Amino acid sequence: MVSPVALDFDLVVLGDANPDLVLRGDDVTPAFGQAEKLVDEARLVMGGSGGILACGAARLGLRVAMVAVVGDDLFGRFVREELEGRGVDTSAVVVAPFTPTGVTVVLSSPQDRAMLTMNGTIGDLRGSMVPDGLMERTRHVHVSSFFLQRGLAPDLPDLFDDAHRAGASTSLDPNWDPSGEWDGGLMALLPQIDIFLPNGMEAMRLARISDLDQAIARLRSAQMVVVKAGPEGAIAARAGEAVRVPGIHRHVVDTTGAGDSFDAGFLAGFLAGYPLERSLMLGNACGALSTRTAGGTTGQATMDEALAVLDEEAAAEAAP
Ligand SMILES: Nc1ncnc2c1ncn2[C@@H]1O[C@H](COP(=O)(O)OP(=O)(O)O)[C@@H](O)[C@H]1O
Ligand SMILES: [Mg+2]
Repeated sequence: MVSPVALDFDLVVLGDANPDLVLRGDDVTPAFGQAEKLVDEARLVMGGSGGILACGAARLGLRVAMVAVVGDDLFGRFVREELEGRGVDTSAVVVAPFTPTGVTVVLSSPQDRAMLTMNGTIGDLRGSMVPDGLMERTRHVHVSSFFLQRGLAPDLPDLFDDAHRAGASTSLDPNWDPSGEWDGGLMALLPQIDIFLPNGMEAMRLARISDLDQAIARLRSAQMVVVKAGPEGAIAARAGEAVRVPGIHRHVVDTTGAGDSFDAGFLAGFLAGYPLERSLMLGNACGALSTRTAGGTTGQATMDEALAVLDEEAAAEAAP
């Protein structure tokens, strides 16, 4: 009998890890003309879709490694310390000597948020920076912020091939496309993606149609399409199965990174072998819980907290 090889990681995240400066208040719209406005809160927190997901998955108990590029500067050290402090393996985080670490300023009000991003090292990741043998050491590979990873995108068909050959599954979160083109090779990559994780707006832009159900149908060359719908919850579709879960409504402080914490929860459910609906519910709970504090990582749920929320929701539904 062949005994299963013990793998080092449940999840390898390839993507963006950079600080977010989150400015929060009821009115965070800048006023030009050299006017000064005051905001309620300013915090430098771990950001980048990949960084937030990696921290969220580690908090849920997964063994996580991050592959990213940071600069040789204060923000780069901040990123590595935050990841390490949350138990994420950073041995494959590359330090670029001459490019500054990317940074995002998040203007966050209870209703909405706007982001200003300086790309810096964010787009500098290449397939060649993924250490040899890493695909053989993990159960799953996730790519974050596809549209910011201009350098990595052409290498993804080969990387996902390697992952599948090594027995790992794959997922990808496109996030927003700042170029407005909404392809960049993504449609051709879909058949190699086991779990595709856009939000509703992104799904409709990619499919070039304003009806969400039809958009999901058009994206179904991925094995599974999982769409986040903000306060309305989430939808998942795969061959012969489509499920929808409603949003979980708690006090919302800041929705930055909710989609990334959702991804962490969904992937944790998937890797635990949960049925599709249960994985979706776990993602939904992790997304909702992440909104309880400012920034993407400070409010992230432990597995016990997320499961407790699911029990509370089930009890509320069963109540007469
Ligand atoms: N206002 C909210 N209330 C409750 N849950 C939310 C809220 N915003 C986001 N979530 C949760 O986080 C998930 C992801 O949020 P969403 O805004 O759709 O993704 P993204 O951050 O990628 O744009 C949602 O599916 C939901 O589970
Ligand atoms: Mg998102």
